[in-house]
Amino acid sequence: MATAVSTPSMDPAVSTFVARKQKALINGKWVEAATGKTFPTYNPATGEVLAHVAEGDREDIDRAVRAARAAFESGPWAKMSPAARARLIWKLGDLLEKHQEEFAQLESLDNGKPLAIARVADLPLSIEHFRYYAGWATKIEGNTIPLALAPPNKYHAYTVREPIGVAGQIIPWNFPLLMAAWKLGPALAAGCTVVLKPAEQTPLTALRLGELIQEAGFPDGVVNIVPGYGETAGAALAAHDGVDKVAFTGSTEVGKLILKAAAGNLKKVSLELGGKSPNVVYDDADLDRAIPGAASAIFFNHGQCCCAGSRLYVEKKSFDKVVDGVAQQAAKIRVRPGFDPESDMGPLVSEEQLNRVCGYLESGFRDGAKAVTGGKREGERGYFVKPTVLVNTNERMKIVQEEIFGPVVTAIPFSDPGEIVTRANETVYGLAAGIWTRDIKKAHATANQIKAGTVWINCYNVFDPTMPFGGYKQSGWGREMGHEVLEHYTEVKSVFSAL
Ligand code: NAI
Ligand code: MG
Repeated sequence: MATAVSTPSMDPAVSTFVARKQKALINGKWVEAATGKTFPTYNPATGEVLAHVAEGDREDIDRAVRAARAAFESGPWAKMSPAARARLIWKLGDLLEKHQEEFAQLESLDNGKPLAIARVADLPLSIEHFRYYAGWATKIEGNTIPLALAPPNKYHAYTVREPIGVAGQIIPWNFPLLMAAWKLGPALAAGCTVVLKPAEQTPLTALRLGELIQEAGFPDGVVNIVPGYGETAGAALAAHDGVDKVAFTGSTEVGKLILKAAAGNLKKVSLELGGKSPNVVYDDADLDRAIPGAASAIFFNHGQCCCAGSRLYVEKKSFDKVVDGVAQQAAKIRVRPGFDPESDMGPLVSEEQLNRVCGYLESGFRDGAKAVTGGKREGERGYFVKPTVLVNTNERMKIVQEEIFGPVVTAIPFSDPGEIVTRANETVYGLAAGIWTRDIKKAHATANQIKAGTVWINCYNVFDPTMPFGGYKQSGWGREMGHEVLEHYTEVKSVFSAL
């Protein structure tokens, strides 16, 4: 049995949901794992078991892929007009909106993030994501193309964009519902069918979303949700020959495994991986904005963001002021359980992440880094870490090179603005970057030279479904969001017709 969780403010639907044994959604039915096994998901604020979930594995993935294939080839989905698909996706957004408080609570319990943050960030972004892609369902077009080598009117030539087929989607735990929305929205708009594997740390909101998908009226087999571990269910999905395309968000290490697994049938691959994003503050920045901006760049979502501004570069004259300012902001952050109304930052998602982040802190101290604030775990119960600002750091240190994925920023001064772009680019990653300056020419010149998929000028962590997101270098392949992502879920067919 799951540990009873109950607070005065908890939505009764949430207590009922977590008390129930959670199943997998395959072909429109909620089913136990083929092996009958379950795994626990934990409340990271306490370390206690929150719910028990069907442990999907190879056999369950196979069943789900077969269901997705049948739904793609011959079910009602295959015959449905784009407008009808759009209405279903829109309805899903509406249902999510109707249940948003319940989802925010479930997300906060399973992931640890403050309930207030889930309410203002994860939920509205997920809802609008579905609505944005509902709009795209009727706007996926080909072109009519005048041939270069043939005389006019000898051929009628055109391209068509068709859904790619069955998509396998593997998502992480940092924004569990939002990552499900990022993946499902475009796949469904394009007319694909899906097997989604949520992260083992945070399967609950994806499973509840599965119930809404059924309520919205998506035909059986269009969306299948198989919870389970990465090495088993995830690996089976990435390798399955019946999957046409795999989309993954997570670690760069696993991204490389996905790529190898996909080689069997050469399924298409898109990857949204790690980052070690530079956040550059020039002396001419408006420091009243840059300081809180640099703090929220790293501390938002406890630093568990692939685009976190984890390498803070500050021009020499402003270094002390910015570091002190960011440290003061950090010290003010109230680190409490997500359900506490006073919580600004919750626990990290798991004991594993707690140990990983604390391991990085120790490695930094061994290498000579100094904590201006924070630097250790907070309390002894749950997986809390103090917001941390490290100085005396340099590019040779592991903490400056590797993704920590916690509330830890390394601050480094620079004196030569001509060199800062080279230093900012000295990383295997290229996901995002921040630039703070009042000089518009400098801002755009820096943005132009940074090798990263997203650049924020005098802001950070701004997301919108219209704006593509993804990485250069080892931060990944392809882009999520915008119209760009639709390319991952469609094949282009060229048709030549002699006149
Ligand atoms: P992970 O990459 O192992 O997990 C992400 C997803 O991949 C989960 O659904 C997991 O079950 C699945 N997975 C794991 N191994 C797999 C395999 N062999 N085949 C197919 N799927 C597999 O990430 P993890 O271990 O939870 O976190 C480790 C580090 O990864 C973090 O400290 C952080 O640096 C990075 N990370 C980056 C994220 C991002 O948003 N880009 C999100 C989560 C983690
Ligand atoms: Mg959990």
